Amino acid sequence: MYKIKYFSNLSIKDLNTFRVDLTAKKIIFIKNIKSLIYILQICKLYQIPHLILGEGSNVLFLKNYQGIIIVNRIKGIKIVEKSNNWLLHVFSGEKWHDLVKYTLNLGILGLENSALIPGCIGSAAIQNIGAYGLEFKDVCHYVDVMSFKNNSIIRMNKNSCKFSYRNSIFKNQYYSECVVIAVGIKLSKKWQPLIFSELENHMKPKFISAHQIFNIVSKIRTKNLPNLKKIGNAGSFFKNPIIKKKHAEKLICLYNIPYYPQSDGLIKISGGWLIEHCNLKNIQIGDAAIYQKKKLILINKKKATPQEILQLAQIIYRHVLKKFNIHLEPEVDFIGSIKKIKTSDLFTLKNKKIIY
Ligand code: FAD
Ligand code: EPU
Repeated sequence: MYKIKYFSNLSIKDLNTFRVDLTAKKIIFIKNIKSLIYILQICKLYQIPHLILGEGSNVLFLKNYQGIIIVNRIKGIKIVEKSNNWLLHVFSGEKWHDLVKYTLNLGILGLENSALIPGCIGSAAIQNIGAYGLEFKDVCHYVDVMSFKNNSIIRMNKNSCKFSYRNSIFKNQYYSECVVIAVGIKLSKKWQPLIFSELENHMKPKFISAHQIFNIVSKIRTKNLPNLKKIGNAGSFFKNPIIKKKHAEKLICLYNIPYYPQSDGLIKISGGWLIEHCNLKNIQIGDAAIYQKKKLILINKKKATPQEILQLAQIIYRHVLKKFNIHLEPEVDFIGSIKKIKTSDLFTLKNKKIIY
């Protein structure tokens, strides 16, 4: 038999950054594609529920998981130099921030704006991560995925990944069909700084280097975001809502609300501002609370249960809907006892009974 190390009925507290204290029937750490294929075949044969996990920094587990959590630690980075670009092939279990540091130290520039985003490379593609003007899609060349059906690996070019704001085909249609194995990243040799508003407070953007951007972004993030070692959270719990121009104009007329016009004519509104203006500042359900510096972030102060975090999020959702007629969309994935739960089942105006 194939030898794989696994753990039974263990706490998953260290496998999710919200630090909710639940268990999984089995936890398996996977370091290569062969072991992954083997586990997936077993799951298929015995119809065992399974979940691929990176660093657990974008999930809220709602129940003890009644299947196998496959923790992806498939690593490796290959770099090819072309006349105008660097082509990187990065396996999905590498950490995003480690890649940012690694490339910067080699003089391969272009990822610095996304310093300190937690999580693995695979999830970066699924989530189309972004910060300070850079999104994964801007540097993506391709994504390699393995189908759960037949374990074949296919290469998807950037366009077929259907990237949009914190979204991709992998988060939707393909979610229960495949695992992201590796990504291709293309970085131009003609580096230019990617300027964002906070940068201008620090120094003249014209003379800035990639290392300086890396340091400034790291400084801003360390100051503004909760320290993962001390406070459980999953970054922004909700996305910034994108709404129709007419609706936005009405709100902008009434309030001094930060907004960002999008290329398709829609308007992105600051979700943090909306929450801040619902008078929910000091709301706390058990140990679940709103992070005071960034209201889109929900925190587990110590021993919050997932139900407390969910209840807090539902209250926020309803208040924002009532006051601004805007449906906040969660950014995190909700994991039930055997599978991911549809967000629309959890966030409605009325409480409904959901089995997860
Ligand atoms: P996980 O939480 O492990 O997984 C997320 C989902 O993807 C799950 O549904 C999982 O089943 C699935 N999945 C994971 N790997 C695979 C795979 N290889 N194949 C198929 N499915 C898979 N995000 C941003 O975009 N910008 C930010 O600035 C940002 N800041 C953050 C700050 C903090 C403090 C925290 C805690 C989070 C932040 N996030 C941010 C969110 C988070 O870091 C990203 O969403 C990240 O990409 C999640 O990576 P992960 O490996 O932890 O994913
Ligand atoms: N604002 C408020 N109150 C708040 C937060 C923000 O009024 O509590 C207003 C301020 O005017 C502020 C503006 O909104 O200037 C924008 O805030 P910020 O730049 O901090 O951005 P954000 O909307 O809170 C987004 C991403 C972050 C990303 C930062 C930086 C989403 C959902 N969140 O946060 O990503 O790091 O921009 O680019 O898009 C994540 O996805 O998990 C995440 C942390």
